[in-house]
Amino acid sequence: MVIGSHGQGNDSQPTGSSVNRPSPRSYPPIPKMGLNRDNAMMIKDEASGSPECLPDEAVPHPVCQVVLGVTGGIAVYKAAEVVRRLRQQELAVQVVMTEAARSFVHPLTFQALSGRAVRYALLDESAEAGMGHIELARWAQQVLVAPASADFMARLAGGHADDLLTTLCLATEAPVVLCPAMNRVMWRHEATQANRRILQARGVRLIGPDSGAQACGEMGEGRMVSTEEIVHAATAHYHGALAGCTVLLTAGPTREAIDPVRYITNRSSGKMGYAMARAALEAGAEVILISGPSLLEPPWGVQQVAVESAAEMCEAVMDHVKRCQIFIGAAAVADYTPVQAAIHKLKKASQEWQLSLQRTADIIGALGSQRAAGAPGPFLVGFAAETQYLETHARDKLQRKHLDLLIANPVNQRGLGFDSNDNEARCFWPGGECAFPRQGKQQLARRLIVLVAQLYHKAHQLQSAARPSVS
Ligand code: PMT
Repeated sequence: MVIGSHGQGNDSQPTGSSVNRPSPRSYPPIPKMGLNRDNAMMIKDEASGSPECLPDEAVPHPVCQVVLGVTGGIAVYKAAEVVRRLRQQELAVQVVMTEAARSFVHPLTFQALSGRAVRYALLDESAEAGMGHIELARWAQQVLVAPASADFMARLAGGHADDLLTTLCLATEAPVVLCPAMNRVMWRHEATQANRRILQARGVRLIGPDSGAQACGEMGEGRMVSTEEIVHAATAHYHGALAGCTVLLTAGPTREAIDPVRYITNRSSGKMGYAMARAALEAGAEVILISGPSLLEPPWGVQQVAVESAAEMCEAVMDHVKRCQIFIGAAAVADYTPVQAAIHKLKKASQEWQLSLQRTADIIGALGSQRAAGAPGPFLVGFAAETQYLETHARDKLQRKHLDLLIANPVNQRGLGFDSNDNEARCFWPGGECAFPRQGKQQLARRLIVLVAQLYHKAHQLQSAARPSVS
């Protein structure tokens, strides 16, 4: 427990709700992809006895490795920002440039941003000795081409394989996503539209183009969509896993007022909860994020409700819970609050100061108890931050709070848990468990959301099967 005061540490947020939504655009489901060896999770399911327990094969795994194809056009400069943003989200990005793209921007820009040497030669002896074009095609879990010029679309539609990028697109089994960018007349041209139709019929996804002012000074449809939209498309690889679901999440710390300037809080930054919110959003869910004070920007597209105290968090959860199918408690909610917060600043008096505390309401525990008593309720996912006996404490919380999944993270190791960028987790559910090794919180959140989706759908299937059929 940390005692802080207003004006120090995290900025306070106004209490209230705000919606931060992307423009409505529906993305078709993307085929499932496997995790690579480095990201594999260990799974044990006592119910099925199988080491690979999770039955819902329809839920795809997160993309970790993206080939970003860059073709010639003035929008090339925006591709640099796309690389930066994808790297921020902990995706490995390999940039492949066409010759025309290199006339606009030097490959060094992309090398510096991606941390990998840019590839452009189809027959490159040094590259073929390492990661050749076929290996690169296999490495990619998604090929994203931004900007995609009219010429590139034509060559792809024609099945050309005369440079590295077109060859890669032919040789890969990963989804190919194009972000067209060109002059409005070129975009409208029947040749381009015919190529678009051919590519779409083959399963290539197109994001955009947008309408508006163009670099050539004209107005119309043809400019590349925003960086946000491209990043959303690239990370919405498991889009559909939670489509149609509303996920209610808590994140961050709470502040329990002692007086108008002092409060009790803890070390939670909100990073883990916000990463979970972003991952749920990417998986297609509608997300309501109830957040204690945090310096973080809410992920683009979530409905955020800002609260301060455990009591406010509890009230906000109860207000929204009826709308949700999944509840995820990632917040570090204070377990105790001062019996009475003073109206005026308390003055120093004696050497010692006794503070009387009382228990706060256990938010997720209350939801679990309601469901255990037979009331309908959401699928419940709790977090537990533990410094010792992680498994024992985690299993106890899973059972005592009647949860469907408990995600336990150790918080006694440097660089993990509270206010860090990395985390690791052991997950427990009735009859099963799995572990995720140390990794960035966003990457981990994507994997956790896949697990949540799989268990949620499994529970749903079991519920439907148990329900008497209506003839
Ligand atoms: O925010 P970060 O800096 O990224 O750190 C992330 C984290 C370490 C805070 C997060 O990953 C985490 O572990 N959150 C849970 C913290 C915790 O220890 O919770 P708990 O063991 O006190 O509670 C267990 C569960 O009950 C949690 O889901 C919690 O949200 C919930 N709870 C607890 C108390 C309470 N009054 N109401 C609750 O709903």
